[in-house]
Amino acid sequence: MPKVVKADSQSIKKAASILRDGGVVAFPTETVYGLGCDTFNERAALEVYRIKRRPSSNPLIAHVLDIAMAKRVVIGWDVRCQKLAEEFWPGPLTIVLPRRAEVSPSSIGGRSTVAVRSPSHPVARQLLESLGSPISAPSANRSGRISPTRAEHVVEEFAEEPELLVLEGGASEVGLESTVLDLSRARPLILRPGAVTVEMLNSVIGNVSEPFVPGQTNSPGTSAKHYAPRARAELVEPANLERRLQSCPDPVAVLAFRAEIVPAPHVAIVMPTDPREYAAKLYDSLRQADSLERQLILIEKPSERAGLWAAVHDRLRRATA
Ligand code: TXA
Ligand code: MG
Repeated sequence: MPKVVKADSQSIKKAASILRDGGVVAFPTETVYGLGCDTFNERAALEVYRIKRRPSSNPLIAHVLDIAMAKRVVIGWDVRCQKLAEEFWPGPLTIVLPRRAEVSPSSIGGRSTVAVRSPSHPVARQLLESLGSPISAPSANRSGRISPTRAEHVVEEFAEEPELLVLEGGASEVGLESTVLDLSRARPLILRPGAVTVEMLNSVIGNVSEPFVPGQTNSPGTSAKHYAPRARAELVEPANLERRLQSCPDPVAVLAFRAEIVPAPHVAIVMPTDPREYAAKLYDSLRQADSLERQLILIEKPSERAGLWAAVHDRLRRATA
């Protein structure tokens, strides 16, 4: 089992020294937990890919303390980046730009671009401060699985990694991975929707496009099937849920807005109607549903689509692909 330690100044210092020595640590961010390594260390990144069983072509996000540290990773920091960072950093916005030569090629699948993000979680920030250098980190889950929003989720994912240190820093507040915005091209393109919405981005730089049709962008992590629970998951229109449940021969788990329409022996996991609360709870609820070991998880489809709901729908679509 990985070693879970409560994040404090001592354990954060220890984690930073592991990173400095080319090792890997898991740490909390406000979106999801990350599996971090030194952005400039070629061998350390390979270890992240091994632990995650991630295809080597799928690039990692470099986490930075601030704009100054971002400039050690990317080139072409223009007025759009400056405005976006001033508005949304630290926070759940990742920007893709041409990379500096120092970024380890293995951490970005040999690409000419790199993604950067400045996390707001105090533990992530203290870790960056203590290391004094960028940390490349994917979400701390096995490739293709649900992202972790709690330290115990990371332990579930990497049970056979006894050496892995996990900094425990509470539940991730946002609960969905960051918005990924490609600024390496003429027109800004959302590669992955997140808590910084297209509406928010457009209010700052304008002209943002968002085809984010799974598999249609040049971002491997946006493939259609992703963020998947072990059981088969199915999205159901609210009006059809009662009928769909009646047609289930075996007991199923249901992520529903209304517990009262889910009769025993089916099990309801009640979801909040507020989009922020829904997002924060979604991955934990999918894991909970999975742990019930039913063949099928039904998810009542949220009827709203704007703002943060767009990111929620994106993850629901992938969880049920
Ligand atoms: O909220 C988050 O972004 C979390 C926390 C830990 O910061 N990290 C995260 O990393 O979700 P990961 O590796 O699970 O997802 C990164 C996404 C993937 O879809 C990847 O393909 C895309 O960002 N990405 C990274 N670098 C890229 C690049 N240079 N060009 C295009 N897409 C890139
Ligand atoms: Mg991920």
